[in-house]
Amino acid sequence: MCGIVAIVGSRQAAPLLIDGLRQLEYRGYDSAGLATLDSSSNCGKGVLTCKRASGKLVHLSKLVDSEGAPGHLGIGHTRWATHGKPEKRNAHPHRDVSGHVAVVQNGIIENHRSLRKDLESQGKKFVSDTDTEVIPHLIADELKLLQGEGRQPCGAMLKEAVQNVTAVLKGAYALAVIWVETPDALVVARKQAPLVIGLGEGEFLCASDTPALAGFTRTILPMEDGEVALLTPLGIELYNSQGERQKRSPSLLTGNSQVADKRHFRHFMLKEIHEQPETAELWVARHLPAGLPIESPVAMPFEESFYEGIESIQILACGTSRHAAMVGAYLLEQFAGIPTSVFYASEFRYAPPPLSPHTLTIGVTQSGETADTLAALDMEEKRRNAHGDLAFASRQLGITNRSDSSLARQVPNILDIGAGIEVGVAATKTFLGQLLAFYGLALTFASRRQNRCPTEIQDLLTELKAVPNHLRKLIQKHDQLSEALASRFAETQDVIFLGRGINYPIALEGALKLKEISYIHAEGYPAGEMKHGPIALLERRVPVISIAMPGVVFDKVLSNAQEAKAREAQLIGVAPEGPETEIFDELLPLPVVSEWISPLLALIPMQLLSYHIAAHRGLDIDQPRNLAKSVTVE
Ligand code: AGP
Repeated sequence: MCGIVAIVGSRQAAPLLIDGLRQLEYRGYDSAGLATLDSSSNCGKGVLTCKRASGKLVHLSKLVDSEGAPGHLGIGHTRWATHGKPEKRNAHPHRDVSGHVAVVQNGIIENHRSLRKDLESQGKKFVSDTDTEVIPHLIADELKLLQGEGRQPCGAMLKEAVQNVTAVLKGAYALAVIWVETPDALVVARKQAPLVIGLGEGEFLCASDTPALAGFTRTILPMEDGEVALLTPLGIELYNSQGERQKRSPSLLTGNSQVADKRHFRHFMLKEIHEQPETAELWVARHLPAGLPIESPVAMPFEESFYEGIESIQILACGTSRHAAMVGAYLLEQFAGIPTSVFYASEFRYAPPPLSPHTLTIGVTQSGETADTLAALDMEEKRRNAHGDLAFASRQLGITNRSDSSLARQVPNILDIGAGIEVGVAATKTFLGQLLAFYGLALTFASRRQNRCPTEIQDLLTELKAVPNHLRKLIQKHDQLSEALASRFAETQDVIFLGRGINYPIALEGALKLKEISYIHAEGYPAGEMKHGPIALLERRVPVISIAMPGVVFDKVLSNAQEAKAREAQLIGVAPEGPETEIFDELLPLPVVSEWISPLLALIPMQLLSYHIAAHRGLDIDQPRNLAKSVTVE
């Protein structure tokens, strides 16, 4: 996690670093820091200024405004704490003992303990608990060795020192390094953590993600794994892990990847919830245009060969994306008839199931940067391609909201959900976008395999086209209902969410949303499982939110809700109005729709209720404690 940014050019670096970091705060906001080099008055050497502050970027920004950080070259960091508490002493940049080398890093140095022990035994004093601090010490030692060979300090020397040090580092990381002896050069390196170079006018930048570059340039060069780059005001030099110079053409940044503003909404999350009708409308326009034949009812960006011979599907994802994957698996199995399994990417990468033939592996990640999902996909590709038998060969598809992400570079087939940038840490419109992507896939597979008759395909298409309007009405209605209900949760400590079948993942998502932003303990359960243990938790103070949509399990869910009511739990129904749903103490009503599309509507009260409960508690909804939008560490 963490975001890093580096710049060299003709303008003062500090304000530009702050601007860049602002676009990366979604990667962590436990602390922020920057270091600049000023060469104006030190006979060719730079004067290093380092400013760090715990908490959000705004604190660093104020510090820099009041104390200054001169220089045309600098590095910056916004932190999500992994090693060491979120305190100022653990904030980046970290420096060597002399204070001449400064480093910012994203990722984890897995062998930092043994490296630190060695360095301490040589008398080096450490001032933080971070894994990062070993790096400036090691680089400073390397530079001393190189200087000892009689060489003059230069950017190439700094690059060489970084190359030598990265050779001993284990783990996944991206880093940026500056050295007082080379005030016009900075070096960046990446291994399994993203880093993109930006080529501006008279300035060169590097950052963990493109939004940090978009305010400066649209010309970018994503770095490949293992590469090291030297950035000076004259240009960039790129080297692969063998130290060979690389020549690649830059590409152009497409779309608006800069963080949007909140408009009139109090929080980005609320704005993004309200943007969902548009997300659905765009999806319908892109994928369900008029005039498509019923045998191929969805416009998809894939070749014929992509679909051929698929016998099973496995989906790898984390968090909310995994919940979307679970709805997807339900659709792919129950509607399209393809055996489908869903895995936590973090579990799959260390305990994959035995290989199955003719299998499509789908990675779902809105950010396209989740370390576990990327690593699980990579591992799966390697083990399949090593197998030798073509039946087991790797076939992969990525579902993401970022067509410029690491996922998009790693996986050959991409479904871009096109939901627009999502700032709130709690995923909302990207969840809807992921669900819609699965409806598209399920419809495509069902019609190609003739698993559903044309009328069933047509019915689902018609219902999907009506989703944007449903969402528009629902959001308006539930915004008010949820706000009114939220005050009742002022003292609540535990909430249970129940769902079954296609809506079980929506219960999980409801619980995750509530936990993330309101810090209330919540659990999502398949309603039928309650009586096997969790029912012991129920009592008067524990609200039970039950999703009961007409369909195969409607009566079953209502009976499960009755069981909860008998234990005096407060019962809130997410269900259509009607005599059957009078059992609920409170109803968050949904229209009667087919069970297939019910998750697309049931998610709205989940999101809005969590939002209003958190807002009522006065919490930091867009940047909840301990979380980050993009989880780039294992
Ligand atoms: C969603 O509200 C969460 N913040 C989180 O669970 C998220 O879905 C998860 O980290 C996966 O992220 P990704 O979609 O970017 O891979």
